[in-house]
Amino acid sequence: MRPRDDFLLAIGRAARHKDPGMSPTPAESHKVFGTMPDGREVKIFTLTNGHGLKARVMEYGAILVSMETPDAAGQLADLTHGYDTLEGWLANTFYFGATIGRFGNRIKDGKFTLDGKTHSLANNNEPGGIPCALHGGLRGFDKVLWAGAPTAANGVAFRYVSADGEEGYPGKLTVTVTYTLTEANELIWEASATTDAPTLVNLVHHTYWNLSGDPTTSTNDHELMLAAPAFLPTDAGLIPTGVIAPVAGTPLDFTLPAVIGARVEADFEPLHFGGGYDHCWVLDAGPGVRLAARVKDPKSGRVLELSTDQPAIQFYGANFLDGTSAGKQGVAYGRRSALCLETEGFPDSPNQPAFPSAVLRPGQTYRHVMIHKFSAE
Ligand code: GLA
Repeated sequence: MRPRDDFLLAIGRAARHKDPGMSPTPAESHKVFGTMPDGREVKIFTLTNGHGLKARVMEYGAILVSMETPDAAGQLADLTHGYDTLEGWLANTFYFGATIGRFGNRIKDGKFTLDGKTHSLANNNEPGGIPCALHGGLRGFDKVLWAGAPTAANGVAFRYVSADGEEGYPGKLTVTVTYTLTEANELIWEASATTDAPTLVNLVHHTYWNLSGDPTTSTNDHELMLAAPAFLPTDAGLIPTGVIAPVAGTPLDFTLPAVIGARVEADFEPLHFGGGYDHCWVLDAGPGVRLAARVKDPKSGRVLELSTDQPAIQFYGANFLDGTSAGKQGVAYGRRSALCLETEGFPDSPNQPAFPSAVLRPGQTYRHVMIHKFSAE
C-alpha cells in the first residue's frame, strides 16, 4: 500500500472509531476539485459550523480555497484571494491560501550550512535584483499534492512526505497540516513535522485576506494591530541584517491599532525596500499560544484575531500583486488588495546564529499553530 492510502485509511478509521453512531461530519462532504497534470485527482473539502461560517480546503498545496464569514449585518462573504478552478492555482505564483515549506520566507543566496555541510537551494526570487531562496523552492509544499482526510473534530488533516533531498533540503520530512473550524468561529491551522535526518523546517500559511469581502478594494483602509515591539530590518534583497530593531517611532509600529494606509508611503528605508509593508515583526515573547495580530475592516465591521505559538510574523501587504492575475470570478487582484499575516520562525535563520533555530532533528517534532478567530462589530 502506498503511504498516502495508508494515511487515508488510518484517519478514516480514527474518525469512525471516535463515534461510530455519528452521522458524517460536514468535512466528509468532499468533491474532486480538479486533476493534476499527471492525472491524480485533487479533493476539496467543505467545513461549516452552526454560525454559517464556511471554509474550503484542498489537497493541492494544503490550500485554504475560501473562507466565508458574516459581516456586522450577518452578510456572508468570502474573504480570501484565489481561483475558481484548480488550473488557476497550478499556474499561480502568489501562494494564495497555501501551506509553504520546508522553509517559508527567505534564505540568503539560497545557501545554508547544517552540521558542517553546505546545502544549495534554488534561488527562485530576486527582490531588489538580489537572488535568494523563497518559500521552499521551485516546487515547494504549496505546489505538491497532499493526502487529505476528515478528522473527528470538524477538520481535515493533510499529510505530505517530502523526500530526502527534495528542493535541496536534507532528510525525509513527514508533515501533517490540519484545518479545523470550531463553533467559536475559529479556523485553526496546525502543522507538525518529523524528520529522519537533521533538516530545516519553517512552515508558513499564506492566505491573502480582504475582510471587506470585496477583493476589488484596497486593504489600506483596514486597521491593524501587531503584538510586536520589534522588527527585523533587511537589506535591499529583503534578507534580515541580523539586527532586532524596536518599532517605536517608526511606521512599523502597530502596537496600537493603526490604519494600514496611513503610513505605508512614509519615507522610511524598510518601506522602500519592501515596496510597502513586507517585513518580519518579532512578537511579544512568551510561552504558548498568544495573540499576534488583530485586523478590522471598518466598512463591514469584520474582525480577524490571529493567535500563534511562533516567535515572529510577516505582514505582507500584497505589494507584488499587479492586477495581471485573474482570480475568483475573473477579478484581477490589484496591488494592496489583501494582506497576509504569516506567523513563522525568523527569515534566514539558518544563516543567522543569533536567531531562533529552525533546525529539526530526528526524535524532535516541529509544531506550529495559527488560530484565526472571526467576529464582527
Ligand atoms: C511573502 C513575502 C513577499 C512575497 C510573497 C509572495 O509574503 O514576504 O515578499 O514574496 O510572499 O508573493
